[in-house]
Amino acid sequence: MEKLVITGPTPLKGEVEINGAKNAAVAILPATLLIDGVCTINNLPNISDVQILCKILEEMGAKIVWNTSNEITIDTRNINTNQAPLDLTSKFRASYYLIGAMLGRTGEIEVGMPGGCKLGARPIDQHIKGFELLGATVEVGKGTISAKAKCLTGNSIYMDVVSVGATINVMLAAVLAKGTTIIDNAAKEPHIVDVANFLNTMGADIRGAGTDVIKINGVEKLHGDCTYSVVPDQIEAGTFMLAAIASKGDLLIKNCITKHLECITAKILEIGGNVEDYGDSIRVWYSKRPNKAIIKTLPYPGFPTDLQPQMGVVLATANGTSIINESIWESRFQYTEELNKMGAKITAQGKTAIFEGVESLSGAPVYSSDLRAGAALIVAGTAANGVTEVYNLEHIDRGYENIEEKFRQIGANIERVNE
Ligand code: UD1
Repeated sequence: MEKLVITGPTPLKGEVEINGAKNAAVAILPATLLIDGVCTINNLPNISDVQILCKILEEMGAKIVWNTSNEITIDTRNINTNQAPLDLTSKFRASYYLIGAMLGRTGEIEVGMPGGCKLGARPIDQHIKGFELLGATVEVGKGTISAKAKCLTGNSIYMDVVSVGATINVMLAAVLAKGTTIIDNAAKEPHIVDVANFLNTMGADIRGAGTDVIKINGVEKLHGDCTYSVVPDQIEAGTFMLAAIASKGDLLIKNCITKHLECITAKILEIGGNVEDYGDSIRVWYSKRPNKAIIKTLPYPGFPTDLQPQMGVVLATANGTSIINESIWESRFQYTEELNKMGAKITAQGKTAIFEGVESLSGAPVYSSDLRAGAALIVAGTAANGVTEVYNLEHIDRGYENIEEKFRQIGANIERVNE
């Protein structure tokens, strides 16, 4: 079993380069199924979710060449099956994008029930409602989902909840449908804009991505012969911004879009931290205990749920009592039990957690329950006194490329050890 061994405390200092966004990459790769041609995707994060998706696409007949560790050329002209490998698709969440993409391509698909982080109930009723309104029939079986459509026809779809996944999935299915689709109450996250930009580069006609009404005029065909660069990862950048504060460090975070980080910047300023915004990089520093804060997670442009655990680490040692209200996922406070093992005083109940700020954390063996919880525990390890061992690294490797190397380069005393 692998673990990360971190000896702290070390103020994290220096420069860190942000990779392409995981949540954009895991949608853009399935989106290539809508193309009858060859395209090149760069700034692709080399993480396990991306590697598994590439394997799935290859098993379905795609040809993929890795030009560098962050760039692939993918040829989807010879897709030869409507069945995605069930064992691989059930390993992670974003495999549900294969449904929208294959409905668009051939009108038929079966995938394994999407897995992913256990954050509580993760219904997909809005995806299904969208597909059905476009003319598909969807069957949820034991461990599988299959969808079929003779012909997809544009329609007006009102999302009952703001859902990143459902917005992207319906957008994928609508790109090659007949006529116009309107998605109302759409999610507005940067990766939704990125997937729309990718599809438009390949010949789609999607307007309004990034607002809550997206209009998709169906086109006959998407062409290849394009190169597309994945948007920088908002969540990875935010993780390092909060790591700078938690560790009392000073970081220049490069290759990010600071506009996507505004709500994190605002909170860091509110708790006393310093931020300098250079447009495509951002410096964050602070050497004192941060002030308490009240946080509520919300869909973009609100405070992202995927940065809630990292913010929790900051608030664990803040001056005074802080409150976090998690409004997206019901089981996103599992990391607080691990922080309590490190000396934090956090009481989590339902969707609310109360953080009584302590002076400092102490190293301990801790277990990541999910991807972002794992990142938060690494941040906590760099700030804590003594040795922290972080287990369950498979969660972290799903979404962060080279994480220990990046932390090492900014001064962390961190090592991956195989027990
Ligand atoms: C995506 C992100 C994930 C992030 C989440 C919220 C990817 C691969 N993952 O997950 O990292 O934490 O957005 O920013 O991009 N819901 C329904 N019915 C549905 C779909 C969703 O009720 O059909 C609810 C969910 O239970 C949740 C909320 O809507 O409470 C938001 O979920 P959604 O935005 O769909 O999350 P994901 O796309 O799964």
